[in-house]
Amino acid sequence: MAEKYRERAVVLSQEQIASQIFSMWLETERIARVAKPGQFLSIYCEDSGRMLPRPISVCEADAGRGAVRIVYRTAGAGTAEFSRCRAGDRLDVMGPLGNGFPLERGQGRSVFLIGGGIGIPPLVQLARELGGGAQIIAGYRDELFLTDELSANGALYVATEDGSAGTKGNVLDCIREHGLTADVIFACGPAPMLRALKAYAQEQRMECWLSLEERMACGIGACLACVCRSKEVDAHSGVRNKRICKEGPVFAAEEIELS
Ligand SMILES: Cc1cc2nc3c(=O)[nH]c(=O)nc-3n(C[C@H](O)[C@H](O)[C@H](O)COP(=O)(O)OP(=O)(O)OC[C@H]3O[C@@H](n4cnc5c(N)ncnc54)[C@H](O)[C@@H]3O)c2cc1C
Ligand code: FES
Repeated sequence: MAEKYRERAVVLSQEQIASQIFSMWLETERIARVAKPGQFLSIYCEDSGRMLPRPISVCEADAGRGAVRIVYRTAGAGTAEFSRCRAGDRLDVMGPLGNGFPLERGQGRSVFLIGGGIGIPPLVQLARELGGGAQIIAGYRDELFLTDELSANGALYVATEDGSAGTKGNVLDCIREHGLTADVIFACGPAPMLRALKAYAQEQRMECWLSLEERMACGIGACLACVCRSKEVDAHSGVRNKRICKEGPVFAAEEIELS
């Protein structure tokens, strides 16, 4: 069984790094020690009207400092509550959850790390643990964030929808504009981007690993709120479903059906 912990984490710092985007460091010694890139935390709201934890990816894990960084967009009431936290406040956190990216599939190979919007944060720790050799393609709507951290850990290429920085268009436009090639893709972002990458990887005969950031409830595999359709039939249940929180959030692209 993978190690996971529930901790009352102390907020070490919080800052707004773009419009509606916040960066928070949490002191969570045990989680920081074992967290892998692509895993996530379930963060509980203090407001008892919001029972379900909110899943947020590990952006950075600093085992030495016993701290984990999350970077998140304020989407609704839960994340808005997190954004009001200040240093010294406490949050209930469970993690690390999920499987994370299969780092061994990237070792010694040419790798694309591709992130769209709020799928960009998990690429920071991933790029670092891959040793700084990856080509990172980050797609933003307009405002950039985490570019310093990404360019410190790989070759960064940026795309923006409005053309205000980098390639005007999406991550695939950016790859084509720069004539980039790789053996394997690790990606996280919105469903349309993941669908396009799955098709691209098939066409280019590339290995492709996708992290799905779907809606979740329990976060620990108990409620089936997060299932996606898979190719293979589960030996025990006889169904073609996978729980994104438990078997994922990272899947081989050919293993899952993206709706
Ligand atoms: C494995 C995983 C990792 C994630 N990592 C991050 C991260 O690093 N940074 C980050 O900002 N967000 C991340 N998310 C999304 C984040 O969990 C949601 O934005 C958050 O739960 C919304 O909670 P809320 O109470 O603020 O909004 P709610 O009131 O619950 O929802 C507000 C709006 O956001 C939409 N929404 C809610 N959850 C999701 C979701 N999972 N995907 C898309 N839309 C959603 C709702 O449909 C609604 O329109 C991740 C999700 C998963 C499953
Ligand atoms: S969120 Fe409950 S099983 Fe995945």
